[in-house]
Amino acid sequence: MKYMGSKSALLRGELGEILVASSAGASRFVDLFSGSGSVSHYVAENINIPVLSVDLQHYSKILAESITGRDCPQTDGPIINKWTADVGRGLLDDAIYEALREPIARLGKATVLRSRRSSERTVGVGFVTQHYGGHYFSPQQAYSLDRLYEELPKEEPDRTLCLAALLHTASICAAAPGHTAQPFQPTPKLLPYIKSAWSRDPVHECQRQVSILAARHAKVKGQARVGDALEAVSSLGDEDLVFCDPPYSAVQYSRFYHVLEGISRGGWNGVFGAGRSPARGYRESSDFSMKAQASSAMAQLLSALRERSCRVLVTFPDADASNGLSSSDIVALAGDSWHVREHYVDSTHSTLGGSSSQGGRGGRRALKEAVLLFEPRTAIISLLESRRPERQDVLSVPHTSEAASAVATAATVS
Ligand SMILES: C[S@@+](CC[C@H](N)C(=O)[O-])C[C@H]1O[C@@H](n2cnc3c(N)ncnc32)[C@H](O)[C@@H]1O
Repeated sequence: MKYMGSKSALLRGELGEILVASSAGASRFVDLFSGSGSVSHYVAENINIPVLSVDLQHYSKILAESITGRDCPQTDGPIINKWTADVGRGLLDDAIYEALREPIARLGKATVLRSRRSSERTVGVGFVTQHYGGHYFSPQQAYSLDRLYEELPKEEPDRTLCLAALLHTASICAAAPGHTAQPFQPTPKLLPYIKSAWSRDPVHECQRQVSILAARHAKVKGQARVGDALEAVSSLGDEDLVFCDPPYSAVQYSRFYHVLEGISRGGWNGVFGAGRSPARGYRESSDFSMKAQASSAMAQLLSALRERSCRVLVTFPDADASNGLSSSDIVALAGDSWHVREHYVDSTHSTLGGSSSQGGRGGRRALKEAVLLFEPRTAIISLLESRRPERQDVLSVPHTSEAASAVATAATVS
């Protein structure tokens, strides 16, 4: 899934190796800003410890848990295999579905505007057609997504797996630029993109997504929660390896992914404006996405994690981010409480559809991503005594002067 700040590309390189090496000795992995779930999935599928995923957004819980919540494949689940097939068969002689047909091959502005009206006015449709038909999805696509939603299996883990497949499908079929802040409008330039997105068959795509997800599973069953990272820290302990990948943008995630959030919650009370988003009061707001609050939110989080004696991995762009934070600010927050090892990996970041001033394709810019390992300072001596070479090797960068003096102290003690 295209997701702002997703670590999926980095996981195929050094970040994956760092996670494996840093997890040695941990009895649980905690992903406090789990987003698309890519990091939770990587750890769950490759390392023999349970994963706890936390995010403010409901869709994130579903995406993470669809894989981390199972320790075996679900490929022969009879309900899962029937779900999309039954819906596909039902649509063949569904009069509402037929009435919502539009000539996608000859799509023009008038057709798009008409399909918005017909989606909103048709009786007997669900929230996807009412909220998003003619905007993000063609009326028939929206109706298919409604039928898939209504027929979701009732039992777990099938329901979460199928809902995650539906979220992936909606993300792939949406006529929007990789997020759902606003759909493409029917201008001559954007009509080809609408046509291309509206030509995708949601039932077929959903079946494909189910097969992909059903084959994947955790080595050890984990958990996912909707909640605030800071609140989740009170239940953590010194055997947890905590991964923090906080927002770097001053724009709230809830503004960019409200369609996925709507589908995971079963619709909104109402949607407004060109983006078809719910009223602001219904959208989650994070201090990490507010320029005036991000630094103190990060300081509070690190302080709470230090109190729980957790080891912590933080990733953040090595550049000034629009929420006002930078990786060097985060290193500075460590003060005397932590020993920090810094590592930098090549990355690209979304500019949310804007132009790219520093290379890369439009809407992306090339930069370095800091991967920072925070270890509680008092733990350094025991870490050195236990001589775990894998931890030393993980982030093979020169020690900071602060750490160098700790190493010298440890050497004297032993
Ligand atoms: C950079 S993204 C994480 C991307 C993720 N690592 C991935 O690979 O997809 C940041 C995430 O933090 C979540 N978030 C923002 N503030 C939060 C908070 N206070 N507590 C928990 N999650 C939060 C956002 O909803 C978003 O999904």
